Order: sequence, then structure tokens, then C-alpha cells
Amino acid sequence: MNAPVLAGPLPGQPFIHQHDGQLRMEKIDLAPLARRYGTPLFVYSKASMLAALEAYRRGFAGRSAQICYAVKANSSLGVLQVFAQAGCGFDIVSIGELERVMAAGGRADQTIFSGVGKTALEMSRALQAGIACFNVESQAELHLLSAVASDAGRRAAVSVRVNPDVDARTHPYISTGLKGNKFGVAHDQALQIYQLAHSLPGLDVVGIDCHIGSQITQAGPYLDAMERVLDLVDALKNSGILLQHIDFGGGLGINYNQDTPPAADELWRQLLARIDARGYGQCKLMIEPGRSLVGNAGLCLTEVVYTKPGSHKNFCIVDAAMNDLPRPAMYEAFHQIVPVTPRHGPMLTYDVVGPVCESGDWLGRDRSLCVQSGDLLAVLSAGAYCMSMASNYNSRGRPAEILVDGAQAHLIRERETTADQMRGERLL
Ligand code: LLP
Repeated sequence: MNAPVLAGPLPGQPFIHQHDGQLRMEKIDLAPLARRYGTPLFVYSKASMLAALEAYRRGFAGRSAQICYAVKANSSLGVLQVFAQAGCGFDIVSIGELERVMAAGGRADQTIFSGVGKTALEMSRALQAGIACFNVESQAELHLLSAVASDAGRRAAVSVRVNPDVDARTHPYISTGLKGNKFGVAHDQALQIYQLAHSLPGLDVVGIDCHIGSQITQAGPYLDAMERVLDLVDALKNSGILLQHIDFGGGLGINYNQDTPPAADELWRQLLARIDARGYGQCKLMIEPGRSLVGNAGLCLTEVVYTKPGSHKNFCIVDAAMNDLPRPAMYEAFHQIVPVTPRHGPMLTYDVVGPVCESGDWLGRDRSLCVQSGDLLAVLSAGAYCMSMASNYNSRGRPAEILVDGAQAHLIRERETTADQMRGERLL
């Protein structure tokens, strides 16, 4: 159920609040923004992103640590620029993401390259750009990277991504640390793979990497994974391979709907206690958070096109769809949906759906709303894995994006036109 909040900050969203019967982000009223730039419209709060970053920094105070924002969560240039200016590093999974980081003012030498399928072309471009480290996921990748680096007369810094076989207790599609997942190398083969990496001419072994999944809402799986990683660090040390850093990936969840993930500083207080207890308190730490830095900083404004009462269901048909907000269709994910200008009147239960020709095109099910055509709704927690996963399905242009900074609203991406979509296509 989704009753409108009539005053003050929305739960779990300190930068979004109701003010004089209007939804606001920081000091910007959202209704006029939607009227000016049209809908669907993504709107992000800079202060919210920086506050999320600050929580990690508090957790690492006094330690040698590098926060590498996972670009895949939201790769819009304006968002990357906020993190680059805040001195963040980046975690990329493609050359496209590296080019974006550099275009936004980010530094390649503070960027790490993750992913199971890096091509030789991507490796060579990343080496040329001066990437900080490759997180390698297989023996075959080690061989290729060594060859590419040697051909270029360079050495590539590598971490091996280890699969700790820990259940992250999240949606199966976003769980990555179990034996059956395609990610990383098996824990019991890691030592042998490190020895191979150590012997290859084009590689410098610098770290160990692990990422067990996304939208993790409990500390337990992280603590288990850390113990497993530290077991390997011990074993590597005993075989003469000394590491400079431990990269612990991303994955910390956010509050979508009464989720209660640990705060970043609290989680790291617990993890650092384990690291200290095992004698690795001096080791540099790297992390790759995505969702927890941007997820609750963003929302998507959408206009109600029609309401359609039905015998089984009432539908609230809006102008945003699964191509803009793919998470409900892909993972049955829950996003809160709130009115921008709440009305007083009887509430009805609606499925909030988009115009795309699929029954899977829903944004929220069984939501209690009082709405009419022309009303604006805000789909919350839409800063991560929405715009970066948006598509042109049904030949729909991708939305515009606004970055709010106090009383200023910056257009960081224009709405995509049909001409933009057809650019590069050719008739026979
Ligand atoms: N590092 C690696 C190697 C990753 O694969 C990921 C996410 C991250 C870091 C960042 O994880 P985060 O802190 O954002 O949880 N599209 C899905 C999420 C896919 C996550 C993929 N990997 C969703 O919308 O829930």
C-alpha cells in the first residue's frame, strides 16, 4: 500500500519531501520541472549522492581506502561528474564506461576494470588510458591480458576476482557469489590461478577482488565473504604472493520498501573489525558501490495518461514504461510510487502500468492512489539501474535527466528524439 505522504521528508529519502502540498527535491518543486522538461523525467539529487558517499568515507576514516563508483548503476555524464569532482574512483565493465568516465573528468588511474568478458581491444584501450587495475575472472583472461600487455610493452596490474561461494540472500539474477554463478574463479582454485598470474610476463599481481551480489540488505553475507577472502590472502602470503589491496566489490542494498540494509559506515565498522582481527588492518581497501550511492538519489516523474477501471483490476496508465524503468519487469522489483501533488479523495487500488505492448510492462502493482489523467506521479528509488538499463523498446525515446543541486536544476541529458534513435540506420 502506498498512501501519500503529506508533509516532511519521505521515509528513507531525506532529500525528497512534501512542502506546501508539493513534492520537492532539495529546493526544487518537481511539478514545474516536469511541466518544463516533459515526462517521463529522471531527477537526481546531488546532495543525496554526496551524503551517500560521505557515509562510506566515514566508515573508512583513518584508513587507506579507495571508493570506486560502479558506473553501471548510472552512467550519465552529469552523475559521473559529481563523483569525479568528489574525488571518487570508478569501477567499469566496458570501454564505453571508461570513455564516459574520462569525458566526465574522472581519472583512468583511479579506475578499475571488472567483468567476465573483456576483449583484447578493450584491454588494450584500457592499458593505453592507464587504468589502475584489471579485476580478472578466469585463467583464459589472464593469458590474454598478459599477451596484450606484453605486445604493448606494458605490464597490467591485476586482481583476481574470487567467488567465495557465499549466498548474498538477494534476487537470483543479482546474486553473483555462489558456485553456480558465472563470476570469478572458484575459491579452491584461486591459489593455483594466482600462481599462474604471478608467472605470466605481462602481469603484476596487486590485489584480490570479490563481489557477491547486489541489493544485499544484511551484514552476514559480507562478513562471511570477507573471512573467505582473508583465508585466501593468508594462503597467498604463505606461498609468497603479497597483495597491495583487497577489493570488496559493491552490493550494499538500499531501502526500496521497508528494506533495512546496514548503513555503509556501520557495515564497514564491522568489516574493518574482522580485517583488523586477522592482521590486515594496514592493507589498502577498495570498494565498488553503485546502487547505494545513487539509487535513492533519483526518481522518475511520470504523467497519468488514463485511468482504466476494470472488473478485476483498475489500471493507472502512465507515460513511463518498462523501457524507462525496467526493474519491475526484470526482477519484480518494488519502487514506491507517490503523487507529486497529492489530491484529497477516495483512494482506489491500481496497477500502475506503461504504454508498452507487454503485460510485463508494469511499474507497481496494487497501489492505493487517488489520481486523474494529467496528474504527476514520482517513481522513487530510481537513481540506480533505471536510466542505465533504459532501452528504446517500442521506439520510445529515452527520458531527459535533471540533476538538482540546491535551488538549481541542471539538464544533464536532453530527451532522446526519434531522429536520435534513427541516427546511424540506413535504408536499403
Ligand atoms: N562490482 C561488480 C563487479 C558488479 O557486478 C556490480 C553490480 C557492482 C560492483 C555494483 O553493485 P551495487 O553496489 O550497485 O549493488 N540491474 C540490477 C543490478 C545488477 C548489479 C550488477 N553488478 C538491478 O537493477 O537490481
